[in-house]
Amino acid sequence: MTTMDSDSLRTSSRQAIQDQEYPTKTVLSSLLSIEDALGWIPEESIEEVADFMKATINDVWAVASFYTNFRFAPPTPNTIEVCWGPSCHLVGAMGLAEKALDALGLENEGDTEDGAVTFKFNTCLGACSHAPVVAVNHKLKGQCSEDRLSELLTQIRNGS
Ligand code: FES
Repeated sequence: MTTMDSDSLRTSSRQAIQDQEYPTKTVLSSLLSIEDALGWIPEESIEEVADFMKATINDVWAVASFYTNFRFAPPTPNTIEVCWGPSCHLVGAMGLAEKALDALGLENEGDTEDGAVTFKFNTCLGACSHAPVVAVNHKLKGQCSEDRLSELLTQIRNGS
């Protein structure tokens, strides 16, 4: 993964703020645009949003930290999401979540210690008829058994 220097993060943040499609630009809409563009919200972006919106850095942090979907660290190369919506919950989602958390050495959502994988819960991956569903790097895997999940985790770890 390429990392951007501070100047590039500022330039990309300003671009994302300018390019947003929302008719009214707000602190939240600006942060959403940056998250879409960069995959996370670096400190430089907070400063750029504050500057653009004529808000204080504290005001921008207050909005950013309220929404749990924002990341404040660069994305990892792999994401695994376990759906725990009603349909998936009924057919074993929690077993899958426990298995994944265990294998990744995590207690809850977040990044693995080596920065290789991000684990997230999802409230519905939009494929309820294929429950239980997980998404690996945004590709859906339906009717996922615990064994299949183990295979997927091994593939992620092996970079395949
Ligand atoms: S509830 Fe899991 S995909 Fe909809």
